[in-house]
Amino acid sequence: MNINRDRLLARLDELGRVGTSHGPGRTRLALTEEDRVGRDLVATWMREAGAQVYIDSIGNIHGVLRGAEDGPPVMTGSHIDTVNRAGALDGCYGVVAGVEVIAAIHNAGVLPDKTMVVTAFTNEEGVRYAPDLLGSRVMTKDIGVAEALQLTSTDGEHCGEELRRIGYAGDYTPWDFLPGVFVELHIEQGPVLDTRHIPIGVVEGVQGYSWWKISVSGRANHAGTAPMSMRLDAGAAAMQLANRLTERSVVNQSPSVATVGTFSVEPGAINVVPGKATFTVDFRDPSDEGLEQAEVALRRSVDKLKDAGFTTTMECISRNSAVTFSDEICKEVAEVAAERSLPILRMVSGASHDAQMLARVCPTAMIFVPSRGGISHNPEEFTEPDDLVNGAEVLLGTISRLIMRRTSTQ
Ligand code: GLV
Ligand code: MN
Ligand code: MN
Repeated sequence: MNINRDRLLARLDELGRVGTSHGPGRTRLALTEEDRVGRDLVATWMREAGAQVYIDSIGNIHGVLRGAEDGPPVMTGSHIDTVNRAGALDGCYGVVAGVEVIAAIHNAGVLPDKTMVVTAFTNEEGVRYAPDLLGSRVMTKDIGVAEALQLTSTDGEHCGEELRRIGYAGDYTPWDFLPGVFVELHIEQGPVLDTRHIPIGVVEGVQGYSWWKISVSGRANHAGTAPMSMRLDAGAAAMQLANRLTERSVVNQSPSVATVGTFSVEPGAINVVPGKATFTVDFRDPSDEGLEQAEVALRRSVDKLKDAGFTTTMECISRNSAVTFSDEICKEVAEVAAERSLPILRMVSGASHDAQMLARVCPTAMIFVPSRGGISHNPEEFTEPDDLVNGAEVLLGTISRLIMRRTSTQ
């Protein structure tokens, strides 16, 4: 059994062309028209691979290849929604490679012991709907279906209605697909494998993250007449706060990272002192302690602004503690890579993934392949074709082991 190299690469290109009309890169935010076109492609490919396709009530797409036994399936998958101006591989690689794994197993004509599923999860990125990882959160009951369907997007659209509009409001219950094992294949999105020229990362866990939306309100005023000493400039105060948060990570020289990814001021005119500023911060740290320290530093800085006369709000948009994956599944991945003479590195993921939600309910692991220059969430995102094929082969080998294993003999 082998991965169909040409088809894997061609399909990644084809999916990567969806959402490129507003370039650079592609923008295929969750539950938009572009997402619908991408979903239709993936569902078609799942059927061509020999899978039955089911859509659940949060819009997750499941391609199912039935095995001989009843019982929880072996699942792989990822997401096809993107950030703004994205590369072609983040998430899509895991879904498209998962479809190729199903095709390879189906074409081999063997009846697996266990059922296999490849899933494209809804709204992993969390750009259009917060929280992120929405499809896998609902599937693992971290958030209720009703609550998820009530969410409003950054452009004011209701999640349930958007699912209906794009034709992906399914009837199936998300947790009916809960797997017994989950393995997600993904590009690393960081520089470690590329720098060390190692083709396969065996991912032992995911660092924790904490996302916040902060608003600072002061007093709008005339940019020419208001003396500096008499201003309550929300823009300047918020910029200083944002700088303090990112500088803290630099000065501490810890693995902790902080990103201010959005920042806006109101009313937003060249000659008006901002009356209000709103920004987001994304903290990540491999240890929960490090994450908590970053949050304490944020609270302290916000309190200082209150003391200075500003009104502030802090909203936690999403938070996940650090996750440890299954050592047993990591070993399986490492053995499969060794069989193919592919060097591995055991590592922790800097980015978040649907696998971290699945890890709460079943043994889980991830496989990484190198990202050139460690660039991701950027149209420049690139992985060598050979690396993409190697990763898919390791996924195929790992899934094959897991589905060809009778429960009674375990
Ligand atoms: C997902 O891409 C994340 O790590 O933010
Ligand atoms: Mn991703
Ligand atoms: Mn991403």
